[in-house]
Parts: sequence; structure tokens; C-alpha cells
Amino acid sequence: MNAKQPPIREETRNRCVIVPLNDALSQRLAPISLEHFHFLHDVQKIDFSIFVVVENWLIEFIKPKEFSKELLDEIWMACLKPKGSFRVCLWKQDKPKFEAVINQVRSKKLARLMAYVPHMDKKTVDLYNNLSASSQLVVNGGIDEEVVARVRASASLLVSSVIDSQAALFTLSKMISCDPTLYDHSASVAMLCAIIAQEMVDKPMSDKEVMMVAECGLFHDAGKTCVPSEVLNKPGKLTPEEFDEIKKHTVYGRDELTKSKDGGAPIDDQIIRVAYEHHEKFNGRGYPEGRSGRLESDAEKGIHLYSRICMIADVYSALLMKRVYKEAFEPGQALKIMIESNEDYDPVVFKPFVSMVVDSVKKFQNMPAPQSTLNYSNDVKGKIIQLDGNKSLAEAMKGNSSDRDKETSPAPVRKGA
Ligand SMILES: [Fe+2]
Ligand SMILES: [Fe+2]
Repeated sequence: MNAKQPPIREETRNRCVIVPLNDALSQRLAPISLEHFHFLHDVQKIDFSIFVVVENWLIEFIKPKEFSKELLDEIWMACLKPKGSFRVCLWKQDKPKFEAVINQVRSKKLARLMAYVPHMDKKTVDLYNNLSASSQLVVNGGIDEEVVARVRASASLLVSSVIDSQAALFTLSKMISCDPTLYDHSASVAMLCAIIAQEMVDKPMSDKEVMMVAECGLFHDAGKTCVPSEVLNKPGKLTPEEFDEIKKHTVYGRDELTKSKDGGAPIDDQIIRVAYEHHEKFNGRGYPEGRSGRLESDAEKGIHLYSRICMIADVYSALLMKRVYKEAFEPGQALKIMIESNEDYDPVVFKPFVSMVVDSVKKFQNMPAPQSTLNYSNDVKGKIIQLDGNKSLAEAMKGNSSDRDKETSPAPVRKGA
């Protein structure tokens, strides 16, 4: 061990291999997002090591043979500490094994949810699962021809499956609120984008257009791969500087997607535009530029229709989600919050969206549950986690979720920031 001791507990120092982190090692590591980390709590064993990086030290914290919930809890509690640089990683070469574990857990959870929650639409659940597999490829970074083809295939499957908008809205909100670990932001946004696009009564869209809007949804936060993972995965409140860094994901998204396109990936211009514009508000109070209105009427300052759709999907998706600092909102509550600041949204898109959510709530809220069905949500509903670092991951699992999109809804009623 180096003469300079790392800021690591003695017990960890005795148990783990700890080496100074250099550039060569950094190149070989891939981050594990907080969102995906939760899935590990549902597995009995792993066949890869989990590393933590503390300052400039790399620690092989969990070897496959030593895998335990207690060690996961230790990592989780270290993540909750407000100060210090701390990252959870694995070897890049082990990413396929890790993704296989996540997909397995996700499928099991979805199957369980289907069995316990009444009126879930199986088609929506299957499509969501498919979209989520594509969204994982996007958030992993390195968007190439293969990733674009995979995203396109998911969007195409979504559109060709002709989903019932009301049933899909209900199912999506149940999935997200009953089991927050099932939340996949880009998959939810992509599905909502397609639902909104196909319900545009004043401006009907072709299947091809709906598919493109769904693709935009899957790629909209691609720029987040450029935001430092300790900022992106920070469970607590962001500082103004960190918030500014998160906001840059729009510019990063445009630049990264353009780079991929220049490198030969067949990325459409609308996708790049939505990645850049999806936090712009109709009234001009968004970012990064403060654009306003419709591109159709103002070619210089207006916002693209697909960005105006994606923005509504993004905010609604974030409001439905349970987070460390807020409970999940029911669809009706989420809609009420959005209506309070309706000037943020294009009425041509927002009005049919409001009617659709209202119809979906009316239809499913009053539908009696089958006699034999148990209430899954009572099993998993927990309290909001206090960020005091004293909660175990098991407790945290009941109420915590991804902070990947915290900039969209960092406080109970703050959205689209
Ligand atoms: Fe975003
Ligand atoms: Fe987003």
C-alpha cells in the first residue's frame, strides 16, 4: 500500500484489494448508475466484481464469492454521504453480465406486477421492457449504428403494436408508482411520446412520425452520459453549480449525437434537435436557449413539434415517479400540477394530452378489481427516505428511485427546470 493512506475504513482496507487509480484503469471501468444499482438487491449471486472509487483509489469492494446484501448496504450508505467523491463501477468487459442480471430482475418484477395489479395491459408491459433494453444501450453511451438500429426496432415495435392509449397510460403509471425500481426514464418518455403523438387530434401524425417521436424520446437524455456520474447519481439536493452541470446535458446531447452521426450512425436531425430542445418551454422560460413558440411559425426562435411533445412526456414521467424527496404522484395529481403551469406547454399538444389522462383516470379508477387480486402496491409502498445515511438499502428500496432525471422534478412541484 502507498504511504498515503486512502480515506477508507480499516475493515475495508483489510478485506479488499485497493490500488491507486490511474488512467489505464479508468479506461477499463464503466459506472453503475444508482438506478441500476438497486436491481442488485434482488439477486442472490453475481459473476462479476463491483468496484468503488474513493478519491483516487480503486477498491474491489464485492467479489462474486463475497456478494451479500450487507455489502450492498455499505455501498448505498456511502453513496448517501453528501461529501466526497464516490463512484460505483465494474469492468467494462463485465457490462453484458450486469445487463443480463438487470433484465432478468426486471422481467421477474414485471411478471409479478402483472399477477398482482388488476387491469394491467400486458402489451404495454412487454413494450416497456423492450424500450428499456434499448434505453440502457443509450445511457451506456457510445451511440453507434448498432444502438441506433436497436432503438429504431423498439420504436417500430411500439408503433406497430397499436397500443390502447388509455390502457397504456394506466399501466405505465402503475408500473412506475408500484415499484419505483422498474422506472426507466427514457423508456417511459419514449412510450409517452408515442402515446401523445398518436392522440394529436388537431394534427394527426402518420405511424412513421409517431415512430420518430418515440425514437426522440429514447435519445432525449443521451447527453447525460457526459455529466459526471457523481453529479448525475447524487441522491441528495444539487448545488446550483451541479444543477447548471446537469442542465448542460442538452448541449452535450446535441454534440454527442452529432458526433455519432458524423461517425456514420444514421441519426435523424430531429433526434438531435429534441436532445437539445426538450427543456425549452413554450413561454420561453426553458433552457438552453430560452426558445419559445412553434418552429412552424418562427423558424428562428421556435421549438420543434417533437421537442414540444417530448417536453410534456418528460415532465409527466418525472412527476409520476417516486423519488427520494417526494412521493409518486397519481396521474390526476401530476396532471393538476402540470395544468397549474400550462403556459409551459404548447396547447395543441397539451390539450389532447390532458383529455387522454382524464379519460384514462375515469376509466380505470372506477373499474372494480377482480376478487382474487392482492394489492401489490401495499407490499412495496414505503416512506420517503431521509438522507441521513442511516437507512439500509433494503429500507431505501421501498421508497428510493433513480435520480437520473432529477433536473426534471427536483422538488414536489418543481418540474421542467
Ligand atoms: Fe433532459
Ligand atoms: Fe428526461
